[in-house]
Amino acid sequence: MEKNYNLTEFLCTFLALVSSISLVQPTSAATTPSAYTNFVKTRCSATTYPAVCIRTLYPYASYVQTNPLKLCKTALSVAIQGAGNTSAKVSKLASRRGYYSRMEAAALKDCMYDVKDAISELKQALGAMTRLGGADRQFQWANAKTWGSAAITDLESCLDGFAGRKISPALRANIKSFVVPPQRLISNALYLINHLYQQ
Ligand SMILES: *[C@@H]1O[C@H](CO)[C@@H](O)[C@H](O)[C@H]1NC(C)=O
Repeated sequence: MEKNYNLTEFLCTFLALVSSISLVQPTSAATTPSAYTNFVKTRCSATTYPAVCIRTLYPYASYVQTNPLKLCKTALSVAIQGAGNTSAKVSKLASRRGYYSRMEAAALKDCMYDVKDAISELKQALGAMTRLGGADRQFQWANAKTWGSAAITDLESCLDGFAGRKISPALRANIKSFVVPPQRLISNALYLINHLYQQ
């Protein structure tokens, strides 16, 4: 999306900061105390896609323990991972020269930017979540939600680009299968963030 270029450029200054936040590594569930896996299960059960939430966050249960903030940050990290996977898949399709019609190639290119924007926004959301300890907690919390919603919107923009009649149904289905999983991960992360300060 053309209008996002300036925004993305503006964000780059921030990203240097945020990129220092490393993703948590998963651990074996076998040795994880059940209090920790139960915590993930309980928190996930109310999200929009509970099965996705449990499957993707269980491996981090021993890191999260029973800390709701850690769970939110981990959910965002997993969403960043998922969107990163989508980015790689879309880029791979976009690099097939001469294979797609002009409209399809243009939609793939736009989608690449949409997904990259979504990743930047998710990193901003994660950055805001790490700043919740300060006096501006409410502001950072609102920021995290705004960035997360923006990421979902950007992924939706990618899908919209493949809605036209001139796009092959096979390509449309392919893109959908790449984009829907991270949308669900973000949606779950947003739910967890929204309910961070509620029991
Ligand atoms: C991303 O891709 C890697 C490699 O295929 C996979 O192990 C990982 O589970 C994927 N992560 C998400 C969140 O989709």
